[in-house]
Amino acid sequence: MQINGNINIDFDAIPIEEFWNTGDVKENKMHRIHAYPAKFPAFITSKAIDYAENYKQNTNWIADMFCGCGTTAYEATRNGKNFWGSDINPVATLIAKTKSQVYIDSILVKYYDTILINYQKINISRNDLKEINERIWYWFKEEQIADLLKLKLSIYQSIPLKSKYFNFFLTAFSNILKPTSKWLTKSIKPQIDPNKKPADVLIAFSKQFDIMRIANLENDINNKSRVKIENINFLNKKTRKPFIDLIVTSPPYVTSYEYADLHQLSTLWLDFADDYKSLREGSIGSLYHNSDFIKDVKILNKTGEDIVFRLYNQDKRKAKSTAKYFVDMQRTIQKSFNMLNDNGIALFVIGNTEYKGVRINNAKHLAESMLNAGFVDIEITKRKISNKILTPYRDKSGKFTTDRNSRKVYSEEFIVIGKKRNGQKNF
Ligand SMILES: C[S@@+](CC[C@H](N)C(=O)[O-])C[C@H]1O[C@@H](n2cnc3c(N)ncnc32)[C@H](O)[C@@H]1O
Repeated sequence: MQINGNINIDFDAIPIEEFWNTGDVKENKMHRIHAYPAKFPAFITSKAIDYAENYKQNTNWIADMFCGCGTTAYEATRNGKNFWGSDINPVATLIAKTKSQVYIDSILVKYYDTILINYQKINISRNDLKEINERIWYWFKEEQIADLLKLKLSIYQSIPLKSKYFNFFLTAFSNILKPTSKWLTKSIKPQIDPNKKPADVLIAFSKQFDIMRIANLENDINNKSRVKIENINFLNKKTRKPFIDLIVTSPPYVTSYEYADLHQLSTLWLDFADDYKSLREGSIGSLYHNSDFIKDVKILNKTGEDIVFRLYNQDKRKAKSTAKYFVDMQRTIQKSFNMLNDNGIALFVIGNTEYKGVRINNAKHLAESMLNAGFVDIEITKRKISNKILTPYRDKSGKFTTDRNSRKVYSEEFIVIGKKRNGQKNF
């Protein structure tokens, strides 16, 4: 459905479009080398490229400002395109960078063997263990801490720190942290599983290496593509000149995931921060912020204002974080517009949510923000979400659950597309 200046349409009545539902080919194994919350399906990028090329639009440079674990990055390079991406979370950009490279198999095996040889030579003392962050002690048993420390030191000793192979093995290390800890598996809330037997570190590492090695063998990304992935807050990105032809992204939702909390094991082990909570700062959609509510409300567009006022009667804290989220999204949309070349296209994948009976129409807010930023020919379609991607159920308190008797919220999401017309000025 196309909106021409009027966003007061019934978003529920927008039909599902088969084109965006499923991919034509199986996803490459590279997409499964590291778990990541709210990862979107790989085929969205190739379909977005087809869509843009149907409009005779250039697709040389593709961007994803919320690149997460690099789904768009990987698919863009497979399609021979250049890619620019950002994510505020260093764990995300580590995985995305690792996925956007091709590795020589014999070198991978050589480094793996060296890591194992050096591992056997490292001795961990009581003093070494005393240096370990308190929060790591909360999540891990002593046996795993000692082995993980040996493994980490061995990776640092065995591979040149600036090489892409170093990132490859850090990513492998990162993905064995949850199985080797007491973290409740598949939980989107960080919590201890009292009954869990944490996996053996070397066995987990060997399995993870096999998964990543096999994924690399079927890797068909284009070596000539230019890839730049930045670990930054997109809202602070300075774009002097437009350079992007196509944006393909899925923004965070308000208070659905605390990405900093979910990645805390990797953050602590890889020394990205001493206190993982510091990484909540600037993260769009986080519940934790020091924003000025009155100022935020003044900036909100009409849809944002309506939703925030309705929420305010139910839950003031939620209303404040939603206001901050909408303001951040409005700035995101403006910055996205500014980085697009003439005739550039932006595609956002976004879902609606509900909180204490208040419908949070993210898609409508996004469409209005796009109109205000200068986008034209805004088109909104819907796709079905496979249950494999995100649980559609929420319990009474609004938290995600796999309990099928709970309220179903996310069974579909929106694809919102806008264009920047030739000669339109940046704001
Ligand atoms: C829905 S996820 C994107 C997932 C991605 N499409 C994938 O397939 O992995 C949203 C991402 O936005 C990131 N993010 C949140 N606030 C940000 C900000 N201010 N700047 C850049 N990235 C941010 C989060 O860390 C998270 O990785």
